[in-house]
Amino acid sequence: MHVPFIDLKRFEPNFLEKWSEKVSFLSSRASFMGGEEVELLEQNLANLTENKYSISCANGTDAMQLALRALNIRNGDKVLLPNFTFWATFEAIVNVGAVPITVDCEMCDGGMSLKYFIEAVDRYKPKAAILAHLFGWSSRNLQKIRNCANRNNVALLEDGAQCFGSKFNGEAIYKRALISTTSFYPSKVLGAAGDGGAIFTNDKDLAFKVRQLANHGRGEHFAHVDVGWNSRLGSLQAAYLNITLAHFSDRIISRKKSLAIYKENLNYEIIKQISAPSQIDANGYCNVSYIEQYNFKRKLEEELFNNKIGFGNIYPATISNQKGASNYLLSHVGGDEAHKICSSVLNLPLFPYMTGPEIYWVIEIVEKTIQSYLENKKI
Ligand SMILES: Cc1ncc(COP(=O)(O)O)c(C=O)c1O
Repeated sequence: MHVPFIDLKRFEPNFLEKWSEKVSFLSSRASFMGGEEVELLEQNLANLTENKYSISCANGTDAMQLALRALNIRNGDKVLLPNFTFWATFEAIVNVGAVPITVDCEMCDGGMSLKYFIEAVDRYKPKAAILAHLFGWSSRNLQKIRNCANRNNVALLEDGAQCFGSKFNGEAIYKRALISTTSFYPSKVLGAAGDGGAIFTNDKDLAFKVRQLANHGRGEHFAHVDVGWNSRLGSLQAAYLNITLAHFSDRIISRKKSLAIYKENLNYEIIKQISAPSQIDANGYCNVSYIEQYNFKRKLEEELFNNKIGFGNIYPATISNQKGASNYLLSHVGGDEAHKICSSVLNLPLFPYMTGPEIYWVIEIVEKTIQSYLENKKI
């Protein structure tokens, strides 16, 4: 059975009809920019993220650039970022003229290391930092990192391109961020029918500045009080997102059900068996012995591929190891945990409305691979 890594075509009944009607309606009125759909979307997003202000924009990379500019990050300012994230987090810093410094991550949750964050703040006195909440979760030390940034006047931007809908301590993860962003790239948790992004904040001045920068620095229509650029979200994208939002909680429930089946049926013990038991920390997270896991990962990739199961390796390289980083990166703080994560991470299919047979097929192949790996290793 073929199981795709992600399938964006599993629409709810009537979804495509509603979308077609909306496209016809907006097109017949030539309502392509701004208007009711964008206003409704921004209101919906503010409610869902538990923020006072939500500003839509052209994509998630722009969202970070707009947020950094609104935070007054300028030429030569130092900005920290996790060494394990998507390249756009790095690009946003460089594109506003600032100087990036990578900080190592923690194996247990992939988030930025609190210890090295504190060290980087002490050593470099950065003006800002970006956190990336990858894979729908965040660092378990999120609040501590926020507090540390606050105490040291480090403006903290939270790149939430992958965590829309996630909760932290029972609240929307974006709620207590100074300023946060998301991406509506189609494969994101909340995806559009093209590119899109948004910025969330409770700070009125930041919200005002972001909106102004995203609209050519306009004070009035032809009066420009700053240099921004065009980063507007089209009305059709906003309409698609509004239709999607009506099904958003069903999609999250469906994802969570699949995740629960994976968790119940996949033998996570294998990771403990192929790593040194002493490396399992108090939270039950496993600091895996990386060479062992790398061998297992290669075997698993081979089996998944042979059995037509899609998988991902997100991300295969750290930021500091990217060729494009060398001309811009000021320094790296910490060790090579992010590198170990990049070398060992393997993402299984998980998307809304996966079927039972699909999930159990993935589980069967993973389990078979574990068994044969263990037999060969004679653990
Ligand atoms: C963590 C992270 N940050 C930023 C982005 C950039 O978003 P976009 O592709 O909408 O510019 C992405 C998208 O892949 C992402 O995953």
